[in-house]
Amino acid sequence: MDRILSGIKPTGQLTLGNYLGALKHFKDFQDQSEVFIFIADLHALTLPIDPEVLRNNSIDIASFYLASGLDPKKCTIFLQSSVSAHAELNAIMQNYLFMGELKRMTQFKDKCSKMNDSQIGLGIFAYPVLMASDIILYDANIVPVGEDQIQHVEITRDLVHRFNTKYGDILIMPKAQIRKVGARIMSLSDPTKKMSKSDPKGDIFLKDDMKTIRKKIMSAVTDSGTEVKYDPENKPGISNLLTIYASCKDISIEEAEKTFNGFRYGDFKKAVADAVEEELTPFKQRYEEIIASKAYVKVLKEGAEKASKVASKTLKRVQKAVGLLTID
Ligand code: AMP
Ligand code: TRP
Repeated sequence: MDRILSGIKPTGQLTLGNYLGALKHFKDFQDQSEVFIFIADLHALTLPIDPEVLRNNSIDIASFYLASGLDPKKCTIFLQSSVSAHAELNAIMQNYLFMGELKRMTQFKDKCSKMNDSQIGLGIFAYPVLMASDIILYDANIVPVGEDQIQHVEITRDLVHRFNTKYGDILIMPKAQIRKVGARIMSLSDPTKKMSKSDPKGDIFLKDDMKTIRKKIMSAVTDSGTEVKYDPENKPGISNLLTIYASCKDISIEEAEKTFNGFRYGDFKKAVADAVEEELTPFKQRYEEIIASKAYVKVLKEGAEKASKVASKTLKRVQKAVGLLTID
């Protein structure tokens, strides 16, 4: 049976990119696979963050997971920091990835190229080691993520290969699973940039009210010309909106393109806003209910227990393999 693992960092407001690229699809696995979904709170500490913000973001993500349809009876939802095996495996695995390969990581370069060495914490540099440990601990073979995380899953694969070559078949080889549509949602104000948690104008936040969301879509940057056509190079704005539409409707880009044959940009944008509203309204309602009932508390508590059981087994296996004296 497939083992699925994924997580989201509680660093800021979740965006429509997080939703369409990752969150929305986690539930699709829970009927036929073993699913582990966590809140990557240790990863959130790799750049400065206010403790209260971190706590609230973590509650938000847990609630969004439940609102997306993840069912705690069918999957395991937990906080990374509540399973100590993540930090313990990290301490071992940091010896099997090297400075040269960590320095080449795009995320590290993007985040730290403008900082000097005295500002760059070890955690952000060693980020891929912890992420690899997350994946390895659950023997995950499938890791559903957005496009920006492929490189981190690839370096995990390198690590697994290196480790298994040295110690035998100890670790399961994971693979990133990327959506055909929606793996890279772009900013609405600059569609050549990824929608990220840090651009209030170009981002749609899941906690924005519907009016704000519609307004952001209606004022999204479009391209010259009049045709609604998928052409990311020459029409990045329109292509991004087509992607958002197709992803909300669970259809292909070609089908979306056909729907808007002959449409004017204004009418097309309105239809995109309708599709996003239809998709997010019930989801946001469920989120509000979960926040109000604090349903996430029990889920996270039970999740930590279930996850710890699985993780501690893998940790033991690794400890034994490298020669740590494990006394049961
Ligand atoms: P993060 O917010 O960096 O923890 O990302 C959580 C998940 O959302 C990861 O699987 C990312 O790849 C995915 N993701 C983040 N931004 C986008 C985006 N603009 N489009 C598609 N997926 C995204
Ligand atoms: N690095 C991921 C992100 O920023 C979050 C994450 C941490 C993750 N550990 C993971 C995703 C393990 C998948 C598997 O989006």
